[in-house]
Amino acid sequence: MKTALLFLACITVASAQFWHPLAPCNGHHECPAIGYCCHYSTVLLFQLCELKPNEGWPCDPTNVSSCPCNDGLTCQQDSVTFQWTCVKEVEA
Ligand SMILES: *[C@@H]1O[C@H](CO)[C@@H](O)[C@H](O)[C@H]1NC(C)=O
Repeated sequence: MKTALLFLACITVASAQFWHPLAPCNGHHECPAIGYCCHYSTVLLFQLCELKPNEGWPCDPTNVSSCPCNDGLTCQQDSVTFQWTCVKEVEA
């Protein structure tokens, strides 16, 4: 029992060292500028800081179910699988 409590305490301390990706927010400015956006969670029904999808990750072009892609990436539909994923922006 004591060991379990100690273990829990360690996890709590350790996780506090990192940014919690599911922190509630009221705007993008409340989330880490790099790689996060403030996004309304349809599961929890409030806004959370979420990771922006990186290259190859699934994304939502309407920004409804996910953050927009990370910097330099754009959400594109694959012509074969019809899945939307973040790909490198092609400079026109
Ligand atoms: C999604 O968010 C990106 C970045 O903020 C924006 O450029 C884009 O227009 C948004 N798309 C829609 C459909 O709102």
